[in-house]
Amino acid sequence: MPVDNLGTIFADPVAYADPARWHATARRVRDESPILKVALDDFPEFWAITKHADVMEIERNPDIFTNSPLPVLTPRAGVEAAGSPPVKTLIQMDGDEHKTHRNIVNDWFKPGNVKKLQSRVDDLARESVDRMAAMGGRCDFVNDIALHFPLQVILSILGLPETDYARMLKLTQELFGAEDPDIARLGEDESMFAVILDFVNYFTALASDRRAHPTADLASVIANASINGEPLADMDMLGHYLIIATAGHDTTSNAISGGLLALLEFPEQLALLRDRPELIDAAADEIIRYVSPVKHFLRNCREPFTLRDVTFQPGELLYLSFASANRDEEVFADAMRLDVRRENASSHVAFGFGRHFCLGAHLARMEIRSIFRALLSRLEHIELAGDPSWIHAYFVQGPKSIPVSYRMR
Ligand code: HEM
Repeated sequence: MPVDNLGTIFADPVAYADPARWHATARRVRDESPILKVALDDFPEFWAITKHADVMEIERNPDIFTNSPLPVLTPRAGVEAAGSPPVKTLIQMDGDEHKTHRNIVNDWFKPGNVKKLQSRVDDLARESVDRMAAMGGRCDFVNDIALHFPLQVILSILGLPETDYARMLKLTQELFGAEDPDIARLGEDESMFAVILDFVNYFTALASDRRAHPTADLASVIANASINGEPLADMDMLGHYLIIATAGHDTTSNAISGGLLALLEFPEQLALLRDRPELIDAAADEIIRYVSPVKHFLRNCREPFTLRDVTFQPGELLYLSFASANRDEEVFADAMRLDVRRENASSHVAFGFGRHFCLGAHLARMEIRSIFRALLSRLEHIELAGDPSWIHAYFVQGPKSIPVSYRMR
């Protein structure tokens, strides 16, 4: 097939569900046409940016390549129906507006503060592994373990009660798994709007509680924040809750479940981590590189800009393929291999780069280290007990189910 026809992989949720094939195709695109024009019936036209250096170069120029109006690939019908988003979050903001809003939560996510969460995160990781041990040697690692732990962390730092975890889990999956028929909400209210409205109702109640009774949790930081002496508008506040509750959950779950699957695929790497648990500190980044749970973000070109042999024009869309950039052989030798001792693993762009660099990166690394440390210290043996399956999505994506059998200490 000519390379010009390969661009469908970037917009096809099903294509991402076959990672080996997806990566083989993306590699051809990187080699033959690294900046590829993709014109499909159902999506606005975009340029797929597949090389690590090019993703970085675009991220270095956030005034030329903005997040608004379209930060994530959306079918044409959705773009036309969307208008302005009901709730605006950091990923829809640019320039001073973005800086002002990011400053509200930035300090909370700095390494010094995140470190204070270590023992709580370790406790939750141990509880997850205890639950796995109690399941008697068989589980679905995604649905029984990986989906719960990051949600517990996020909801616990936001300060939500455990009784609300199940509801938040469902809402988050509906929001990010909307292209997947098994996950998307069925029936009358299948539109994204209904899902967002559920979030709005939930967090409005939370904010009014934290304004009346402030605590040390992140929900209180957001509820009591002000800009130029004025309290945050309700919708802005909701934007903060929404992005943290959603961005902090599925992304990390996918990294953990994708990480376990990768270790099963490369058993010598699993053995190495079990023998030398201290390697997990660096291996977390290799797992994140390999899995790249956030497949892309879009940028909107504002001024003519030339990269390689292409000049982007104002109004054009650029699809930053983090998944492709993280397998770029020019940066990562033998990139298709998981190598827990890879020296430059942390050069990955799975957290993006620049102004919008993932706010939760330190927390995500802490969670991944913590759960694998807890798991590997107790696992005597683990193997697949059936075929894994993958979520159909082109934004945040990873395994949907990983049946495993295991023995634990
Ligand atoms: C392995 C897990 C994670 C991955 C792969 C990931 C990936 C990303 C990526 C690619 C971006 C966009 C960066 C860019 O445009 O350059 C991002 C932004 C963001 N992430 Fe994460 N993320 C993860 C975990 C988390 C966690 C745990 C949280 C919060 C608790 C979080 C909160 C955010 C927020 C708030 C933004 C928006 C930042 C902005 O626009 O300024 N993420 N993340």
